[in-house]
Amino acid sequence: MTNPMPHEVAKLVPAKGNINGNTMDAYKKDYETSMEKNDEFWSAKATEILDWMSPFTKVCQGSFERGDIAWFVGGKLNLCYNAIDRHVLNGKGDQVGMIWEGDEPNDTRQITYQEMLNEVSQITNALKSQGVRKGDVVTIYMPMIPELAFTMLACARMGAVHSVVFAGFSSEALAQRVSAAQSKFVVTADKGKRGGKDIPLKKIVHDAINKMDCQEIVEKVLVWERFYDPASTEAPFEMDPKDVRMNPLVAVQRPYCPPEVMDAEDNLFLLYTSGSTGKPKGLVHTTGGYSLYAAYTTKTTFDINEGDIFACVADCGWITGHTYVVYGPLLLGSTTFLFESTPVYPDPGRYWDMIQRHKITQFYTAPTAIRLLMRYGDEIPSKYDVSCVRVLGTVGEPINPEAWRWYYEVVGKEKCTIVDTYWQTETGGHIITNLPGVTDMKPGSCTLPVPGIDAVVLSAIDGHPLTDADKDENGNLEGVMAIRRPWPGMARTCLGDHERYLTTYFKPYPGYYFTGDSVLKDKDGYHWIIGRVDDVINVSGHRIGTAEVESALVAHPAVAQAAVVGEPHDIKGQSICAFCMLTVGYDESPELLKELKMAVRTGVGAFASPDHIVISPSLPMTRSGKIMRRILRKIVSNEADSLGDTSTLADPSIVDTLIAKFAELK
Ligand code: WTA
Repeated sequence: MTNPMPHEVAKLVPAKGNINGNTMDAYKKDYETSMEKNDEFWSAKATEILDWMSPFTKVCQGSFERGDIAWFVGGKLNLCYNAIDRHVLNGKGDQVGMIWEGDEPNDTRQITYQEMLNEVSQITNALKSQGVRKGDVVTIYMPMIPELAFTMLACARMGAVHSVVFAGFSSEALAQRVSAAQSKFVVTADKGKRGGKDIPLKKIVHDAINKMDCQEIVEKVLVWERFYDPASTEAPFEMDPKDVRMNPLVAVQRPYCPPEVMDAEDNLFLLYTSGSTGKPKGLVHTTGGYSLYAAYTTKTTFDINEGDIFACVADCGWITGHTYVVYGPLLLGSTTFLFESTPVYPDPGRYWDMIQRHKITQFYTAPTAIRLLMRYGDEIPSKYDVSCVRVLGTVGEPINPEAWRWYYEVVGKEKCTIVDTYWQTETGGHIITNLPGVTDMKPGSCTLPVPGIDAVVLSAIDGHPLTDADKDENGNLEGVMAIRRPWPGMARTCLGDHERYLTTYFKPYPGYYFTGDSVLKDKDGYHWIIGRVDDVINVSGHRIGTAEVESALVAHPAVAQAAVVGEPHDIKGQSICAFCMLTVGYDESPELLKELKMAVRTGVGAFASPDHIVISPSLPMTRSGKIMRRILRKIVSNEADSLGDTSTLADPSIVDTLIAKFAELK
């Protein structure tokens, strides 16, 4: 007998910690208003949450079909001004805006809003002095130090478009992103520190700018020093001709720089993300809509109040770091927390120790970290006083009910709200989540849509919006997750390829934004995200495109064809299993397997390295030459007994060979 699905056994856990008097009735009313009077709803939020230099004249225009959505048309504002200056002007200059904790627990920094204003202004002036202009793309490849967030804010201040590349990506992957964005400037650090180890970021950038056409594109590499010594006149790293030392350059700048007047629809940042085919997509977010959506969702989902200390431990290289480490909390004038290290360094009590020491009130991490920490036992969190925390958040993948329970019972002592926040790089901020004090929880469900989000479940077969008539005998609907109308935080295009934006998100189901996820909506209207319907793999909450990993594998001369699928993994959620067909003349050997893993490390990054590689004489292909990944997915999920129809395969006998080879690995 198979285990029951989480939604079949889930019991409601009453909403916790209602400190602002928010109620379910108020949520329902808010949601209804947002649907009936969408423009008024967002217009009121935009005026209440942001300061505008000139008011907008139209709330929203454009259509999904044309992909020309624009929000707060004609409005002018500056995100950095909203995130820093206005708090200083409102008398909060002395409030700590950011707490940073480095790799070593005693390496911490507290930075006030006033200090941030001065430092970010200096960085902006430094960028300008090096030729950066409004609209230029600045690639940021940095460790999790305050200067990373400040460089992002400095770009926003002057209207440069930042493109943060996660510092776990290889030089190859970095070069691809620099080249695709034609980014003339790269900002990095001489090194990063994680788990006691140095990461040679500057060297990786050096390698990257010698690849592809980056030598022609990149004009300057601006290098921060991880441990800057103002007395040193020599750089602690090898200077290349394009390098500029950031710290001494910044130190001599004027500590004020006027914020640029930006149109609501001016590009704010680019973030590359993976899809199922082709190269990574450079998703573009714009100034007004994104700022509003970041601030609004941070406020409602985490129930932020005056004096709160908000800690999101995601990396700024991903969207979660953009919205919930940097922009959301600072726009609200809250105190944000920036974390450089890992959950297990120097020991697996690190998170709970940080919560206790810094009096963190909201804590936000990923299911993979919770599953990892669970393994070390209940005694570890119990050693710390984490009673200051009110909201515990999760993001990145569906959370399994066991991990949810552990987070709720062992970490939160049944006193905190667990917010299960479902969203994507494309959505800018949360789209489906429970709200503290409002929504009763069900372990494993992200629950109900955020007000303003017209969430719809569509039939995967013919695309019609599912209704009561489609419910199964238990009252469930199952289909794909879509959104029926625009929202301010949505990405506006894929840089340099608008057609791809339309094809990926709006053409599959005309009239809807398509998330790429499948979902079950239960009888209470609660959403349970099942997973991606495309070939995107989610390893430890890192979104990885199969195409990128496969092209790294076939770049090795031994590999003629490769197909990569996600394999269930206890901690990472999914790990990568690669099926490779070798070129004639190559044979399987332990050395070759090592080389292939290395090929992925250098082509994409260590975090995308396959756990398993199956070498096989051929791959399951249709007669027209299309690889049937569906079959590979079943094999790695130990569901080979329900493979479905294999008669369309050119060589159905390959399936048994693959099953046997995969079983040998286990
Ligand atoms: C998955 C990360 C279930 C989903 C913010 C989505 C989730 C992809 C959840 C986006 C959640 C994210 N429950 N699945 N709470 N949050 N996902 O762009 O498959 O890196 O499409 O954004 O992560 O990943 P991305």
